[in-house]
Amino acid sequence: MAIPNTRKRLIAGNWKMNGNIRSIDELSEMSKSCDVHHCEVIICPPAILLSEAKQIMTNTSIKIGAQNCHYENSGAFTGEISAEMLVNLGIEAVILGHSERRQHFFEKDDLIKSKARSANNQGLTSIICIGETSEEKHLMQTDTVVINQLRNSLPETFSHSNTVIAYEPVWAIGTGKTPTADEIADVHYKIREYIAKVSNAETSNSIRIIYGGSVNPKNAKDILSVKDVDGALVGGASLLEKDFSRIITATEY
Ligand code: PGA
Repeated sequence: MAIPNTRKRLIAGNWKMNGNIRSIDELSEMSKSCDVHHCEVIICPPAILLSEAKQIMTNTSIKIGAQNCHYENSGAFTGEISAEMLVNLGIEAVILGHSERRQHFFEKDDLIKSKARSANNQGLTSIICIGETSEEKHLMQTDTVVINQLRNSLPETFSHSNTVIAYEPVWAIGTGKTPTADEIADVHYKIREYIAKVSNAETSNSIRIIYGGSVNPKNAKDILSVKDVDGALVGGASLLEKDFSRIITATEY
């Protein structure tokens, strides 16, 4: 029996450590111009802007996500924010295992797995990032690296409704370089195949796998039409309302 494809496209904006209280005006603009129903839109500003962003987007279809969370609900973890606290604020998603956190904050797969488990337990959607470095790509290790990261960072609590997998080649982030359509299709296929192996065909067919790394208004349509690509995680181009809106529009076909 064929399993219906229920994957709603997702465009997520990762502001990273950018933005200030004035960026909230950009968000207000977006809330007016972007009454989006054909895809899901999540904006992930820095933690300090989450509360304000959430208030602005209340009663709009745009969701607010965080860029990180701790795996415990509370405790002596100075500087940290828990998944429970995010949910308390009305936040709906969290980016986990971004390559910048793996690289600069030495986050390893097992830590990412604990965070994702906590996010899932609290009812947040985890956007789990995986991807190879340029060295690994040149050594033809892309598939092995990506599947190993997935195997070790996906918690047993994952399901198609609480988890999104973001394939983000590290060498493509912020560089203006992107893999070819065939390369993206191949990795996304391998990820879906792996999910089928560790769960079942229904989960594998329903889970969203999005691409990230130098997505911009010019290449969005081509990338989003690649087989098995269910959306995009956008960094730099999510900071300007005009660019981000054009990427959202690229999902309309
Ligand atoms: P970029 O970043 O779109 O600026 O390449 C993507 C990301 O880091 O998620």
